[in-house]
Amino acid sequence: MADLRTTLVGHTFRNPLWLASGIWGESGNSLKGAWEAGAGGVVTKSIGSQPRMGYPNPTVVTYEKWGMLNAMGLPNPGIEEYPQEIGIARSAGAAVIGSVFGADAEEFAQLAARMAATGVLALELNLSCPHAKGLGSGIGQDPDQVREVVRAVKRAVKIPVIAKITPNHYDVASLAQAAESAGADAISAINTVRALAIDVRLRRPVLAHGLGGLSGPAIKPIGLACVWQIYERVRIPIIGIGGIEHADDVIEYVLAGARAVQLGTAVAFRGIGIFSGLAKELSERLDALKVHRLEEIVGGAHTTATPQ
Ligand code: FUM
Repeated sequence: MADLRTTLVGHTFRNPLWLASGIWGESGNSLKGAWEAGAGGVVTKSIGSQPRMGYPNPTVVTYEKWGMLNAMGLPNPGIEEYPQEIGIARSAGAAVIGSVFGADAEEFAQLAARMAATGVLALELNLSCPHAKGLGSGIGQDPDQVREVVRAVKRAVKIPVIAKITPNHYDVASLAQAAESAGADAISAINTVRALAIDVRLRRPVLAHGLGGLSGPAIKPIGLACVWQIYERVRIPIIGIGGIEHADDVIEYVLAGARAVQLGTAVAFRGIGIFSGLAKELSERLDALKVHRLEEIVGGAHTTATPQ
């Protein structure tokens, strides 16, 4: 059987299939459940300084084939309450990555220090939520602010720092380069793509917030292009996100340059049973392709193709 282990941010993960932030990771028990179901790593819900209710309903629109549009508004219990949830996941042995969001470098740094104190193995900085004013991509679309946030967080913690990058920018790789220049240890790409659904009868946006973020199969080609471009411009590891459901989706991301991937919408649609099924499917597919170790083929498409 092909070896699915992958090493990044100073840790060898048992497989490259991580639970993405925001889908299943609100409570310690849900993180634990995803780990026990076979995820290689679990990323928490993005946590802020204070408890936050998020936007009113409706917050989600689902599309049968393409995926999901959401604008939850970063609901979370706040950093004060959250350490006990991480404790539950860690006591099950889970490889936990703590996601945080803030309004500026100082808030990110304070939150990061508190999240690091919970014993997570790395941090993921949400610089990419596409619709929360002054947060997420409100900061993460500006390379200077990305650099400032990452630099402040790196000064505040000793654990590895992953910058989660928005696709809603004309030069996504420049955001990754800014993060790398400030000391980021890895890049997650991508978060959702800004999008809209309109109710024709009401003549209004379907989501209470109006704009939302699109995820799922529709954005896989966008995620792949971003990972491809980032791989050409940075040396730190990349974690691919966007529309991953099947073994070939994972392999495409790895060939584009990812060392691990995150699953979000596929977990929302199919449940956490997807992790063990996909790990098996991935091993079998790699065997059929005569690939013994997943890590052998990271960035492999760059050596055989000429990107435009
Ligand atoms: O609405 C939300 O909470 C989404 C967050 C994100 O995309 O990072």
